[in-house]
Amino acid sequence: MTDKLQLLAERIRAARRLTILTGAGVSAASGVPTFRGQDGLWRHYRAEDLATPEAFGRNPRLVWEWYAWRREKIAGCRPNAAHEVIAAWSQVFPACRVVTQNVDDLHVRAGTRNLTRIHGSLWELSCWDGCAKGAAGWRDERVPLRELPPRCPHCGGLARPAVVWFGEALVGENLRAALEATACDVFLTIGTSAIVYPAAGLVHDARRQGAFTAEINLEATPASGTVDLAVHGGAEVVLPRVAERL
Ligand code: OAD
Repeated sequence: MTDKLQLLAERIRAARRLTILTGAGVSAASGVPTFRGQDGLWRHYRAEDLATPEAFGRNPRLVWEWYAWRREKIAGCRPNAAHEVIAAWSQVFPACRVVTQNVDDLHVRAGTRNLTRIHGSLWELSCWDGCAKGAAGWRDERVPLRELPPRCPHCGGLARPAVVWFGEALVGENLRAALEATACDVFLTIGTSAIVYPAAGLVHDARRQGAFTAEINLEATPASGTVDLAVHGGAEVVLPRVAERL
């Protein structure tokens, strides 16, 4: 383990361009439930049963109850040591880019620079009916929300969480930023099960372009076999240990 941490630190130290991709595992130590872990089920639903336009169309109240539950949980969570190390690197390395799948905004709260939130934020809402003003979205951090399901303040229609659901395309500029970030010297994928595309493809794109690729995760994932270095452990433990070797 120590050798791996040393190697990773050396690679990061020598990198001109560092890209970090994060998933729910980075927020696990903050108390945010992951999607596919043991705590991933809400009532008896999986994320794939709720985080779709079809599920919302069928039962907006049920989907909003799930998001209201996640918002309440996350409101009581703070960034952990993993968020803090990533934020510090984003401030220190001039060409460090952070791409996150997380919608909890804990990277934002930790002060991360150059951050692309490819799945949006659960603290932002947009108009489900797609009215011109509401489509741009708005921020609402109230917990609990004033009404469930919430309404669009512009047209009075139904509001939705401004997150990317299964079957929906990423916002063009976010996808572009994520793809551009694969042109780097070191690509770190941290705390993601590496099965949801296009995020899961980024590490492979980076490797094809010559980056040194490394994964930090509690367990093996589909990416583990292809990255140059796989470190098994909690991100909140591993990242501070790498940071102290830099
Ligand atoms: P998952 O819940 O699929 O995976 C979390 C990963 O984090 C797993 O591989 C765990 O082994 C790992 N993990 C858990 N605790 C950890 C820790 N302390 N340190 C390091 N790793 C840890 O979450 P994501 O990969 O983020 O999409 O899921 C991808 C997307 O699927 C999410 O953004 C969400 C979801 O459905 C949308 O909502 C569109």
